[in-house]
Amino acid sequence: MRKHIVAGNWKMNNDLAETETLITALKSKTKTTDAEVMIAPAFTNLWQAYQTLKDNDVIEVIAQNMHAATNGAYTGEISADMLKSIGVNTVILGHSERREYFKETDASLAKKVDAALAKDMRVIFCFGEELADRKSGNEENIVGSQIKNALFHLDASAFKNIVLAYEPVWAIGTGETASPEQAQDMHAFIRKTLADQYGYEIANEVSILYGGSVKPANAKEIFGKPDVDGGLIGGASLKAEDFFAIVNAF
Ligand code: 13P
Repeated sequence: MRKHIVAGNWKMNNDLAETETLITALKSKTKTTDAEVMIAPAFTNLWQAYQTLKDNDVIEVIAQNMHAATNGAYTGEISADMLKSIGVNTVILGHSERREYFKETDASLAKKVDAALAKDMRVIFCFGEELADRKSGNEENIVGSQIKNALFHLDASAFKNIVLAYEPVWAIGTGETASPEQAQDMHAFIRKTLADQYGYEIANEVSILYGGSVKPANAKEIFGKPDVDGGLIGGASLKAEDFFAIVNAF
């Protein structure tokens, strides 16, 4: 049975004090849930977040990014070993904001995925089409090629440590959500793409999250679709109440 996952991507929000405040609020709302719950604070606050959540076995602290190299002259970057050394074992890779503002490509992301998996980290791999692609009916081609280019060099066994996150760029931070049907159609396509390469036995075990303006008001309907296994939440993950309302939508 594949896992239900709800992950909060805090992006470049919350300083140390704000991180403490939000985590304290999250802890007070934590109850055992069927879904795995994760939060991704900024790099500078990961250690503190990990310490604050040490006695909480529901919320996992994860990273928003990492570098592909193990160490060396990469000013400003963070390696898998550094993350692991502070208890962070899961990393988000390929977010559309990284692709757009930091010029990450399928090829550079393939290297990051390899580096994370080599250290036994779990990867939440993000991808999704832009509005123009959707308008021209090209969304499946784009998404299919993002997945193939970054992941299809992997052995089937690698997928036990991979979570996919479909985040249509036009739905991120815009308030415009993919309809539950649009999400389901794309998630079914993603699963079929995986199955064509690795078989349904593997594809059916990979959790596929939806991201893009998920809120308490729409989470239940989106998560109710058979191929939607959870969500990657931006804005709504910055409010404890909203985030747990989304977690509890399962
Ligand atoms: P929003 O939920 O703010 O649209 O952001 C989604 C996202 O980018 C999560 O990674």
